[in-house]
Amino acid sequence: MVNNTNHEFIKKVIEKQVEFLVPGIQLAKAVYSGDNKILISEGTVVTQQIINKLLSWDISKVSVISEVAENPITNPKVQQFMNTYNKSVTVVQKAFDRIRETQEIELATFAETAEAITENVASAGNIIDQLYNFPKCDDYTFHHSVNVSAIAALIALWLNYPPDSVSAISLSALLHDVGKSQLPPEILNKFKLDAKDYELYKKHTEYGYDLASKIPGIAQSVLAGIRDHHEREDGSGYPSQLGRSHIHPYAKIVAIADLYDEALTINCDKPGKLSPYYSLEQLRNEIYRIDAKVCMTFLQNMNNYLSGNVVELNDSRTGRVVFINKEKPSLSMVQLSDGTVLDLSDTPDIRINCVLR
Ligand SMILES: [Fe+2]
Ligand SMILES: [Fe+2]
Repeated sequence: MVNNTNHEFIKKVIEKQVEFLVPGIQLAKAVYSGDNKILISEGTVVTQQIINKLLSWDISKVSVISEVAENPITNPKVQQFMNTYNKSVTVVQKAFDRIRETQEIELATFAETAEAITENVASAGNIIDQLYNFPKCDDYTFHHSVNVSAIAALIALWLNYPPDSVSAISLSALLHDVGKSQLPPEILNKFKLDAKDYELYKKHTEYGYDLASKIPGIAQSVLAGIRDHHEREDGSGYPSQLGRSHIHPYAKIVAIADLYDEALTINCDKPGKLSPYYSLEQLRNEIYRIDAKVCMTFLQNMNNYLSGNVVELNDSRTGRVVFINKEKPSLSMVQLSDGTVLDLSDTPDIRINCVLR
């Protein structure tokens, strides 16, 4: 079940007329000039001086983080997403058990679940924050499948795919690791795999493809996401070492959602201590092996979820992220509880460890 006790409030981005701005409100998006130059960066906490400048530049509206925090427990859309999430994990878990017994995938179960995830992601929007709190180690594959499905649907929405494509991408992502149902559980639960086990692990892509290909009428595009989500643009992936132009667009989206969620859950020895900052940095490091456009769309949209979080640093101090370092998110600017602002890019040994709020 979702544990939301450490996570009582979520940010809400609203448009605010500059005449109603007061010092202390945080900008959710950068303010640009007519010729597209950044005048004030995203995440800036406005001062009277900034308000005066905005007024003198004749800017009438800006996007800000609402001063009134929203409680997801009372936000029906987020609550609905959380219900769908929990239900989906149970459905996927049972479906995997059935696949082990019958070697058949009940497409309708997965398609309905993917549809529910897609609908809720589209309406709840801010589900990324919710994914920080889900249990990580036990039943990892089921949570991971649902997380990747939700993230892939979000990416597809950000890329402006039409609704039926978003559903297909979400379905492909929900099924992307279905081949793991064919692997011995001890392989799935091992933290580090030796070379022999890793070769066996890699087979989950082909096992998944073989299983899903037996479904009558399944689309080739959905199958591509299952078989090719570990392929990489430079041909270094598996199972077929496909190059950039041979990897299906859906597989490229699933790959990015998969990498992000994997990096997010890698610290599963510290449940609840997850860092999207670390995950996004990992993704940025992989940018030459994954689709650059999809990756940049993801990174840009994710920046909206990164400022304002209360975080713990690796020296145990806590603070609030006030300005995002887009190159290295875990080296962003953090305002400590005593009011000091630390630019972590100037402090070589200090970085963001995890999100607390
Ligand atoms: Fe996989
Ligand atoms: Fe995966």
